Amino acid sequence: MSVKNDVLHMLEQNKGKNISGQELAEKLGVSRTAVWKAINLLKEDGFMIEGVSNKGYSLAVSSDLLSSEGIRLYLNDQYKEIPIKVYKSINSTNTEAKLMIMNNAVHGTVILSEEQLSGKGRMGRNFYSPSESGIYMSVILKPKLNMSDSVLITTAAAVAVSLAIEKVTGVITQIKWVNDIYLNDKKICGILTEAVTDMESGTINSVVVGIGLNVKTESFPENIEYAAGSILKMDDNKFIRNQLSAEIINNVLSILNDIPNRKFIEIYKERSMILGERVRYCKDNQWFEGYAQDIDSNGALIVFHDDGHKEILNSGEITVRRSL
Ligand code: BTN
Repeated sequence: MSVKNDVLHMLEQNKGKNISGQELAEKLGVSRTAVWKAINLLKEDGFMIEGVSNKGYSLAVSSDLLSSEGIRLYLNDQYKEIPIKVYKSINSTNTEAKLMIMNNAVHGTVILSEEQLSGKGRMGRNFYSPSESGIYMSVILKPKLNMSDSVLITTAAAVAVSLAIEKVTGVITQIKWVNDIYLNDKKICGILTEAVTDMESGTINSVVVGIGLNVKTESFPENIEYAAGSILKMDDNKFIRNQLSAEIINNVLSILNDIPNRKFIEIYKERSMILGERVRYCKDNQWFEGYAQDIDSNGALIVFHDDGHKEILNSGEITVRRSL
């Protein structure tokens, strides 16, 4: 670790409090000049560090820049050492994650970026990823799961994110099958899971779980303006992106253990915004309408048509038809 990382770690740990240059230097076993240089580099990176003569340095309470040090503070003990890489800007964290897999990235590696220039959504769509207002994260997993359990990773990830949001903000979100997260009827989070297969054995080598969460995004492009929302309004004055990122990581990594026993499906169903609703879905280029009755232990949606015919959907997109 560099002096810069060590200084940031101590400032994040003591957010809002002053620490003298002397104390930082002594605790880190470096010179005061090295501390001063590190502080300047951090300020250049955009960290809001105040320096008051005789009192020392403090990281402003309102600092909300993502950093591996800020995230690590909130990780559960067993995940404290996972590799975390935070970019200022990147095309797509999922694309970067797939490159890292080719370079032998380990299970639990996390890539985040303050913005994405070409964030990827499902079905070839873009994911709007403006700077410093959301969490755009990819988690590399090397799960020890059989093929039929692996397909549940996305479903489990949606529960993991919903529970993390509740823990950090108190807000209870809803899940729209398969894996979009909604608040007040607006989509606040999408998940794009991509599998990397081993060409020789044909088995899944790694999985990239890409999570795009609008935390405090205030405005959206015209084409998604009515459909998209975010967790907090700016005036809520909360600076939570590091903590929220950490809770999402904690939950995504730990929920993998619950995939074989399907424990998370109950929470998924409780938070579903479509069960009991009339839904429309497209199959073989044709639109159908029915009643969303249940989600089974494999995450499939069970829809009943008016003529009593039952359909089990394993993937796809649905729209909800609320009666007025
Ligand atoms: C969707 O709603 O269609 C899925 C959106 C997934 C967006 C996330 S943001 C982090 C990761 N990197 C990407 O390029 N996409 C995913």
